[in-house]
Amino acid sequence: MTILVTGGAGFIGGNFIYYERKHHPEDSIICLDSLTYAGNLSTLSPILDQPNFRFVKLDIRDRAGVYQLFEAERPDIVVNFAAESHVDRSIESPEIFLQTNILGTQVLMDACRKYGVQRFHQVSTDEVYGDLPLDRPDLFFTEETPLHTSSPYSASKAAADLLVMAYHRTYGLPATISRCSNNYGPYQFPEKLIPLMIANALNDKPLPVYGQGLNVRDWLYVEDHCKAIDLILQKGRAGAIYNIGGHNEMKNIDIVKLICKELGKPESLITYVADRKGHDMRYAIDPAKIHRELGWLPETGFSDGIVKTIGWYLDHRSWWEPIVTGEYRNYYKRMYGGR
Ligand code: NAD
Ligand code: TYD
Repeated sequence: MTILVTGGAGFIGGNFIYYERKHHPEDSIICLDSLTYAGNLSTLSPILDQPNFRFVKLDIRDRAGVYQLFEAERPDIVVNFAAESHVDRSIESPEIFLQTNILGTQVLMDACRKYGVQRFHQVSTDEVYGDLPLDRPDLFFTEETPLHTSSPYSASKAAADLLVMAYHRTYGLPATISRCSNNYGPYQFPEKLIPLMIANALNDKPLPVYGQGLNVRDWLYVEDHCKAIDLILQKGRAGAIYNIGGHNEMKNIDIVKLICKELGKPESLITYVADRKGHDMRYAIDPAKIHRELGWLPETGFSDGIVKTIGWYLDHRSWWEPIVTGEYRNYYKRMYGGR
């Protein structure tokens, strides 16, 4: 079996490649990634020279390049992680989100149609459902919840999801979609909440909490997400959408305080800054369908997962320090400078 993993030099795609390597060592993996600011080839350096693995630097929007790759490799399965993934950047510059997340997905699906695949899997997000009010803890996102997006990022992901379903219905593309809640774990780019707070705390820098820090996210350890996608590839029905989440809702401020505690840093580092525009209040996934149909359950609870994650960032400074001292500094100044 040959699996084409797009966006595999990013956070979840990289973890997925390691998951597949461990659980299906007989499969060949091709990683396609254009190495944007969020792609980090050093994530994959231990396996770059392994047999059954190939890295290809390519943009999913490059139709001719993508067709050439399909012609040469004839992947059986395509898992699309390649995306612009950060909400704050989408508020600053929406266009690249539409190009990569929508048109890039279309190019991949056209290649799948042209060359034939057993499965195209689109990695989507719970953010396509918009948000839930804080005072209705009884409400959760199911696969039937209407799409109701808030940011250019989530709008681009929802548009891609609709296109995937259209390709399934119109052309019979054997496609599946998963919509997962917020992930955390090793190799996450330090612009996202948890690694940003860990990196800043370790450097005794202010911890910028948006608004009052009361927004709720439903956190899942990245390996549990990878396991769910692997199950969908094996047993999921073409045309189906699966929500993935572990019922682990937490307020942002509580996460930041926990990170301070684990690292022995003072809460006085916490700095409340201007809120994100259009900031979603609460995400909460109902994962009943994937549990019922595929038997998926998360394995890593938040208290273990966050300790493992903090430990990973402590042990892998050489992975993230070049990021926070490099070009990323300009982004940080733009995003947080006058906030
Ligand atoms: P990431 O930003 O860490 O990684 C994205 C990867 O895609 C990078 O390696 C980047 O170089 C690559 N890429 C970007 N544009 C590309 C292009 N045009 N062509 C080829 N490669 C390109 O993102 P992530 O957090 O790993 O997210 C992966 C997927 O999972 C995304 O589709 C995202 O929407 C979805 N998702 C993320 C989360 C989360 O909490 N991080 C939760 C649910 C769903
Ligand atoms: P993020 O990791 O960007 O994920 P998403 O917006 O996709 O859920 O942010 C998680 C939450 O943390 C979100 O409510 C915004 C908040 N946040 C901060 O308070 N400060 C920060 O510096 C960042 C990056 C996020």
